[in-house]
Amino acid sequence: MGQNRRIKIAPSILSADFADFGREIQAIEAEGADWVHVDVMDGHFVPNITFGPPAVAAFRRHVKTVMDVHIMISPVDSYIDAFAKAGADILTAHVEAGPHIHRTLQAIRAAGMKAGVALNPGTPAEAVAHLLDLTDLVCVMTVNPGFGGQKFIDMTGKVRALRQMIGDRPVLIEIDGGVDPVTAPGLAAAGADVLVAGSAVFRGGSVENPSPYGANIRAIRAAAEAALA
Ligand code: DX5
Ligand code: ZN
Repeated sequence: MGQNRRIKIAPSILSADFADFGREIQAIEAEGADWVHVDVMDGHFVPNITFGPPAVAAFRRHVKTVMDVHIMISPVDSYIDAFAKAGADILTAHVEAGPHIHRTLQAIRAAGMKAGVALNPGTPAEAVAHLLDLTDLVCVMTVNPGFGGQKFIDMTGKVRALRQMIGDRPVLIEIDGGVDPVTAPGLAAAGADVLVAGSAVFRGGSVENPSPYGANIRAIRAAAEAALA
């Protein structure tokens, strides 16, 4: 393909030890994570509950790279300032989460964060056609959001369509769900920039034995970048 892009790996701490987030974040960064992906779930927009702004603020003290906060909540707008205060660098909201995603993206940028927009598997690429000048990142969900460790849903056609729509705008494409060394190459070839991975990064390791985290990160990155060579 001759594309000379570097793929970023963003481990999701949804697969970390929930009693030890600080050390887990330090471990994945020491092992080569580019970003730290933080999954906020409200038990309403998605059928699971994780943590809210106070926990995210506590994670911030340990994140040296980029804190990539994916909010699976509805409503969104009333919580934007809280996530800005918590120290999110990127705040990604779902296009399906509320009636006015355009306003939400404006508000995220106005609060000083990069604005991301996420698309569930059932939502077409065209849903972001009028949002691309307001967004810094489009997150393509390759599972239905709510849980780690689910089976990958192939969205390479959507990724290709988004790459075309984005053109030369400075908008990153992020993939979230079921990413591993097997699924990563097709996603990278289709135009992904950032790969979120939870179970495929944390499997086999722990804060006491973090080297598998590094091996897992390198395996995903190598598989993805090989598809660009
Ligand atoms: C799912 C979350 C993902 C999840 C990915 O709702 O948004 O970030 O942690 O987990 P894996 O990589 O295990 O599919
Ligand atoms: Zn996520």
